[in-house]
Amino acid sequence: MPHAAQAKENLNPDAHPAPTLSAAQRSNLSPVTAWGYAWWRARSLALLGARGFTLKREAALFTALCRPGAGQRWLDVGTSAGFYAGVLARAGARVTAADLSPAMLAVAARREPDPAITWVNLNVEASGLPDASFDGVTVGATLNETHDPARLLAELERLLRPGGQLWLMYLRRTAGPVQDLLARPALGGLTFPDPAWVARQLPGCVRTDGLGVGAVQFDRFVRSGRTL
Ligand SMILES: C[S@@+](CC[C@H](N)C(=O)[O-])C[C@H]1O[C@@H](n2cnc3c(N)ncnc32)[C@H](O)[C@@H]1O
Repeated sequence: MPHAAQAKENLNPDAHPAPTLSAAQRSNLSPVTAWGYAWWRARSLALLGARGFTLKREAALFTALCRPGAGQRWLDVGTSAGFYAGVLARAGARVTAADLSPAMLAVAARREPDPAITWVNLNVEASGLPDASFDGVTVGATLNETHDPARLLAELERLLRPGGQLWLMYLRRTAGPVQDLLARPALGGLTFPDPAWVARQLPGCVRTDGLGVGAVQFDRFVRSGRTL
């Protein structure tokens, strides 16, 4: 199936109740946001206090801890311009790269034209995908933007097979005034979670690694239970 057609596919048109969208989620539907996103993403971690954290370094950290490999099935949640989807595909994984925004998916499919990636237009808070579908899940900052992060995390735990890995990158709570402003519904409705709160939303997972650099948090969890 051509990428453009995949980007229009909606895997959960009947999901009930339909998740509400935050202002940040709605802003990502704009082609203008999608057009500029990769530029911002390449600089965002350094600008947000993680000095020296280039995309190359982020990819190296993820690859060293999660070791994605050939034949594994990964879900990239809120893929935007396809950064984690591309890293995973180059490691040999089969990737489902999901995003709410058709405009983001169109940009991502142009940037990462790898047949190992399937681009899907999907709200992952209510994905409708089968239990234990994935060996791994990546979430690069989507936790900050999604309307209901607790609902998203519960869904991701359900989608992981026992022994599967969950990789999170997000801006954690610093209690600063800028975060308070951006958390207001009209100004973005962003969430800046505390790592302990994140761990509590994942009772079926064990946190194996956690690294904070500035306000940026990287966490690796493994789904408990017998490996299928
Ligand atoms: C901060 S950007 C993600 C950046 C990307 N993961 C990366 O590492 O470069 C957030 C993206 O998640 C998408 N998004 C937000 N909530 C979502 C949800 N519930 N399901 C799917 N995509 C979502 C937005 O459309 C946006 O493209």
